Amino acid sequence: MAIDTVAPSPSLRPGGLPPVDLGPAAALSCRECGTRFPLGPNFACLECFGPLEIAYEFGSERAEELRKRIESGPASIWRYAPLLPVPADVASKPNLNPGWTPLVKADNLGRELGFTAQLHVKDDSGNPTHSFKDRVVACAIEAARAFGYTTLSCSSTGNLAGAVGAAAARAGFRSCVFIPHDLEQGKVVMAGVYGGELVGIEGNYDDVNRFCSELIGDPAGEGWGFVNVNLRPYYGEGSKTLAYEICEQLGWRLPEQIVIPIASGSQLTKIDKGLQELIKLGLVEDRPYRIFGAQAAGCSPVSAAFKAGRDVIKPVKPDTIAKSLAIGNPADGPYVLDIARRTGGAVEDVTDAEVVAAIRLLARTEGVFAETAGGVTVGVLKKLVETGQLDPAKETVAINTGDGLKTLDAVSGAGMTAVISPTLDSFRAAGLASA
Ligand SMILES: Cc1ncc(COP(=O)(O)O)c(C=O)c1O
Ligand SMILES: [Zn+2]
Repeated sequence: MAIDTVAPSPSLRPGGLPPVDLGPAAALSCRECGTRFPLGPNFACLECFGPLEIAYEFGSERAEELRKRIESGPASIWRYAPLLPVPADVASKPNLNPGWTPLVKADNLGRELGFTAQLHVKDDSGNPTHSFKDRVVACAIEAARAFGYTTLSCSSTGNLAGAVGAAAARAGFRSCVFIPHDLEQGKVVMAGVYGGELVGIEGNYDDVNRFCSELIGDPAGEGWGFVNVNLRPYYGEGSKTLAYEICEQLGWRLPEQIVIPIASGSQLTKIDKGLQELIKLGLVEDRPYRIFGAQAAGCSPVSAAFKAGRDVIKPVKPDTIAKSLAIGNPADGPYVLDIARRTGGAVEDVTDAEVVAAIRLLARTEGVFAETAGGVTVGVLKKLVETGQLDPAKETVAINTGDGLKTLDAVSGAGMTAVISPTLDSFRAAGLASA
């Protein structure tokens, strides 16, 4: 499989609908039965209700040329536009230009955890609204434009709501987003400040998501683009850019192990899809890689199924400080299980106390302040090494998906080490003088 140097012809749609230009995206394809459908705001297969994902028509550009084209592109996810369901001129449209975040060489953390190979932290807290969600929203908004939506919406555990609010503000869409009413203050403020409507729902994320599915079928929500519901196939593709960036930042090489937090599991499944595409396109050399999923013990339905050797995810009622990962009935859970098993990885979980300790560990060793989701990832990374599930002699990437400033309460014990009067005597008495 290679890639066209010319833009493919716009995809035709039935019923007299105008064709859409979403770059190399050719159709929607069912993940379960493979039935193909024209591009449109659809997310479930009409034959078997399986999830739909984007099928591409890549052409014939040589890998070396494509690599060069990507490397000369913008320092954002749009350098990968030839691999995404977006028009070729996407970078010139008003958007937040997310992505191209640092891949931090985590030598100090690696030393503490007993790594002999290189450990990296892909730090996605540097995105415009401080989580990886800016990547997925940037792709969803192009689909929303193509299908003529003017209102953007989503069900969210907090970060997505902020990403939609900000992207809608920049791109001139109206936004109305839905969150559980009891989220962290930092997330609520970040989601509300962009001027769209932010609606708190009395219930948990699974209740919010159910409500949004009802709204789509009702005149009250008609014409709305729900980025993670009716635009979900397009939205999901944004997460592939994490895989692309990691490999490019490693010098067009696959890492041997990746640790990824799970809420719905979409991000993990799309990172795997991105790695597979890079291999098929010849952009990286094929070699085995292992994918590990991370959950909080208070919301660990995928980890529980993995450990029990089950294929079926039993939904749970979440109870954890890692609220961004608090999805009790994860849509992509079964696919996460498949990927962890196929690649020789695992799914593991950590307690809230371990999450807090891991946030502090990452901050103390690498100067990276993660939100609770990042604490889950680093806590699980530590546990996987301690239990012998992850090999510290293999190059590993752990993904920090969000910024600690959004979940300050989790580390409320941190702060001033001393309060002193402005005198040298007081400073010495506090035991802080140079050693
Ligand atoms: C910071 C953060 N990390 C990870 C995730 C997991 O995302 P997914 O639903 O794609 O598994 C979320 C989801 O909201 C999140 O906010
Ligand atoms: Zn199907």
